[in-house]
Order: sequence, then structure tokens, then C-alpha cells
Amino acid sequence: MKNITIAIDGFSSTGKSTVAKQVANHLGYVYVDSGAMYRAVTLYAMQNNFIDENHFDIEGLVSSLPEVNISFTFNKDLGFAEVYLNGKNVEKLIRTMEVSSFVSQVATIPEVRYQLVKQQQLLGKDVGVVMDGRDIGTVVFPYAELKIFMTASAEVRAERRFQELINRGDKVKYVDVLHNVQERDYIDSHRKDSPLVKAEDAIEIDNSNLTLDQQLEKVLQLVAMAI
Ligand code: C5P
Repeated sequence: MKNITIAIDGFSSTGKSTVAKQVANHLGYVYVDSGAMYRAVTLYAMQNNFIDENHFDIEGLVSSLPEVNISFTFNKDLGFAEVYLNGKNVEKLIRTMEVSSFVSQVATIPEVRYQLVKQQQLLGKDVGVVMDGRDIGTVVFPYAELKIFMTASAEVRAERRFQELINRGDKVKYVDVLHNVQERDYIDSHRKDSPLVKAEDAIEIDNSNLTLDQQLEKVLQLVAMAI
């Protein structure tokens, strides 16, 4: 069977990564969480005082980009690759509300996007890959054999994200999560460089009322048609 490239894009917290991981495991493909890479750069920016509530030193961050090394290492127990920042596992650190509150600003910087897109293209080169993000079908892999655009209402997405954060012990309020989801949607779809848009040839899946199994089944049907 031929290996293909599967691009899954969509708004924040649409459950793209959960489905993408399962599809990749099912097909024996590489899975790449491109959002984790933007989150890792954001964590780097926070740790090095380039960004906080009061200031954002874009020039400082851009000139330090050569020092930002992002990699993935497969964790057999979890069944997916965890993200590393300069050799340190940051999988948990990048999922905090604080990182979520800055990441979309960091993702507007063209130099950051250029560096990460190049790396994403290499990660998907000559392999079967499932990559999820905002610009995978439009910019990273415009020739992907299968493009999916995931949607769900903002409330459904915020509720899912809220439960995820609560389950891992974070103290967060639903309204703050909803606000963050809406704010990221706005910034992601209005930025100049590679805004979040549905690729013309992407197939839209609204998963507001679909179980994970139903979503997986749907995507695998589309894969079978694309192969
Ligand atoms: O996918 P996730 O919600 O973890 O992504 C975090 C943020 O990273 C998004 O809100 C967006 O600002 C940015 N992002 C992006 N392009 C991608 C993936 C993520 O701009 N391909």
C-alpha cells in the first residue's frame, strides 16, 4: 500500500490531535503535532524572558531562534512522540494555560513559521505522515493526498479542553478556557502569514456530535479512498 500525507487542520481544541494520533497508529504512520512545536518555541520565549503579560521582544526571540532545537521522541507507553526543547522533555510544560495564552502571538512571527514549516516538511518527507495544525494543507503540504478540516462549536471545544486541563490537575475556569479558545481562533485566522483557512480541497468534518470512534471511522474511510 502506498504511503500518503494526511493533513488535519482546524480551530483550537477540535480534537484534531486525538484523531490524528489514532489514525497514525492504525496506519503505522508518523504523527506530528505541529502545534506542539509552536508551543515549544513559546515556552522557550517565556523561559528566556522574551514574552510575558507586559512585553513581547520579537527581535530578541527571532535572533535566538538558531538556539531553539525542537525534536520528537516516540514514547512506547503513551503510543505517540513527545516533544523536546533543547533536549528536555517539555510535553507537559507546553500544555499550560500560560503557554496557550501566548502561543498564537508567537505563531504570527514569520521567522518562527519559516523555521518550523521547514522542519515539518522534513519530518514528513518520504514517509506516511499524519500532521495536524492550522496551515498543514495550505502551506506545509499543499499537495497532501488527503486534507481534513475539523470543526466544532467553540463551546464544545472549550468544554473538552476544560475537562482535559481539570483531569490533569490544573486549576482553571471554564470561562477562561472559552475565552482563550475564541481568542486563538481569532488571531490564528486573522494573522498575515499563513492564516487558518480551509484549503479548497479539504474535506470538512464537524465533530460536535461525533464520538472518537465515529471520527476515526470517517477519517479511515477517507484514507481508503485517497490511497
Ligand atoms: O494545535 P494547538 O492548539 O496545540 O496549537 C497551538 C497554537 O499554535 C495555535 O493556536 C496556533 O496559534 C499555533 N499553530 C499554528 N500553526 C500550526 C499549528 C499551531 O499557527 N500549524
